[in-house]
Amino acid sequence: MLRWIAFTGFAVLGAGMAMVTVAPVTAQQEAPPPAERVVEPVQANPNPPPAPNQPLPYSHQWHVGELGLDCTTCHVNPDPGNMMTFPATQTCMDCHSDIAIEKEPIQRLTQYHEAQEQIPWERVYQVLPGVTWSHRTHIDAGVDCTSCHSAVSEMPQMQEVTAVTSMASCMNCHEQQGAPNTCVTCHSWPNAGNTP
Ligand code: HEC
Ligand code: HEC
Ligand code: HEC
Ligand code: HEC
Ligand code: HEC
Repeated sequence: MLRWIAFTGFAVLGAGMAMVTVAPVTAQQEAPPPAERVVEPVQANPNPPPAPNQPLPYSHQWHVGELGLDCTTCHVNPDPGNMMTFPATQTCMDCHSDIAIEKEPIQRLTQYHEAQEQIPWERVYQVLPGVTWSHRTHIDAGVDCTSCHSAVSEMPQMQEVTAVTSMASCMNCHEQQGAPNTCVTCHSWPNAGNTP
């Protein structure tokens, strides 16, 4: 049996069981869910560069939009660390040791995996070195991935479609959200480091 079908099956079964056991408890306690932060999406990139030529034709539209994988299957923010990071080849191989193994890109994926090499993905979004930036601050503050990276689940190729790395976008959202917004919030000249 294809492993991703088993995977989806477990997820559905797991969700069903969780609902059965948890629902009566929450119904009694009525704990209010944490307030969602209302955030205006970051402005579109007025002049988006073409999608970079990636080493493998990985598609968010397929894996997120069609298969329904969560962002956190592949992107985690290790503590300590500011980045969302890229998945280990093992995460891909959880499915692709069985799926589409006859396809040329999957054979190359398997080669990276067997050679224990990271896939050399071209970066899409990058802030200037020296700017203080952390994903954690923003995720903890309840800002959604799509507010800054747009509708990733519709993108066959990842592209820099928003202007989130520009100073104006940072400051616009900070102003709107009442977040700290002085120069030293994001710059600590002269020796600021954009640590990974
Ligand atoms: C199955 C694994 C997988 C899932 C699930 C996934 N991604 Fe990705 N993501 C990748 C890979 C691989 C790359 C690098 C290739 C590329 O840019 O398309 C990437 C790249 C990105 C980038 C560009 C990073 C950069 O600056 O180079 C963003 C932004 C991103 N993903 C956001 C998301 C969001 C948001 C979700 C959930 C809606 C998500 N991803 C779900 C694997 C995944
Ligand atoms: C407040 C805006 C914002 C939010 C929210 C946000 N990102 Fe990002 N993301 C950025 C910026 C800015 C960069 C470039 C960071 C850099 O240069 O390291 C980035 C870069 C990335 C990268 C490239 C690797 C890295 O960490 O630098 C990935 C992958 C990514 N984001 C995924 C996500 C996912 C998944 C979520 C939701 C869990 C998310 N982002 C939420 C702004 C955001
Ligand atoms: C939950 C299972 C799952 C995971 C995890 C997964 N994939 Fe896939 N992927 C699929 C399925 C299913 C297809 C569609 C296969 C087909 O068309 O026969 C696919 C298709 C692809 C294709 C297109 C193959 C082709 O030429 O048609 C590429 C490339 C790909 N995946 C790369 C990746 C990479 C890189 C990762 C890790 C970052 C990854 N996948 C993680 C299930 C997965
Ligand atoms: C979509 C909205 C949004 C965008 C875009 C955004 N931020 Fe933020 N930022 C926030 C929110 C909300 C907080 C948390 C404020 C709080 O906890 O009071 C925050 C907090 C921070 C903090 C911590 C401030 C402190 O002293 O506690 C830094 C540093 C920061 N952001 C840098 C950046 C940078 C650099 C960019 C652009 C690359 C950026 N942010 C883009 C919403 C945003
Ligand atoms: C909320 C975050 C944020 C705040 C607040 C902020 N900046 Fe920036 N700044 C950035 C980002 C992000 C960049 C990189 C923009 C790019 O790559 O296009 C940047 C770039 C710059 C640059 C050019 C590049 C460099 O690092 O030399 C200067 C100069 C600058 N900022 C000055 C300021 C001054 C002065 C203030 C206070 C009035 C300020 N910034 C406040 C986020 C911020």
